[in-house]
Amino acid sequence: MNLLGTGLFLLLTHPEQWAALRADRSLVPAAVEEMLRYEAPLRTAFPRYAREGVQIGDVTIPVGAVVMIALQSANHDERRYVSNDDFDLARTSATHLAFGHGIHFCVGAPLARLEGRIAFNALLDRYESISLAVPPEDLRWRFSTLIRGLESLPVIGTEAVSRQRQ
Ligand code: HEM
Repeated sequence: MNLLGTGLFLLLTHPEQWAALRADRSLVPAAVEEMLRYEAPLRTAFPRYAREGVQIGDVTIPVGAVVMIALQSANHDERRYVSNDDFDLARTSATHLAFGHGIHFCVGAPLARLEGRIAFNALLDRYESISLAVPPEDLRWRFSTLIRGLESLPVIGTEAVSRQRQ
């Protein structure tokens, strides 16, 4: 739900990316990955507990500490992503951490990716144009440390001519 809602919001607020996707459907899988990177639906992974002390860079994590992994922050790491804060469907070089990493990597990732691809292809088939029905600053984001998503996304759509005739 949050991938679809936030993903559409990103497209509607980046018209040049929306136009590029409409012009070239082969970009849909890359668009879904960039949505996941740019606005990871899970802001953090589930908590970890350090079984032993760990040193990461300048930070010492003491034994027993709770560790919250900020997936959203990792997905915007400027050391990893060129123009890290740009929403760019042409980004092909980097993976992201929206589904976690390692042994607990999201078991539902293939399904979520498939849903995203099907939904955005269906949206492009069905609507000739879509726009936000309210100014972006009036949208409300869910109040949650775990979930990144909109409370609602009001839009106005014009159906494609082929569908209007049906
Ligand atoms: C866009 C949609 C989704 C996102 C962003 C997402 C994200 C994540 C993340 C980040 C983790 C790893 C958490 C961690 O390491 O602490 C995870 C784990 C998991 N996800 Fe997803 N998920 C999504 C959809 C799904 C779906 C559709 C299913 C099931 C059909 C699913 C089932 C699971 C399960 C069972 C785990 C735990 C895996 C384990 O601990 O071994 N997820 N997910």
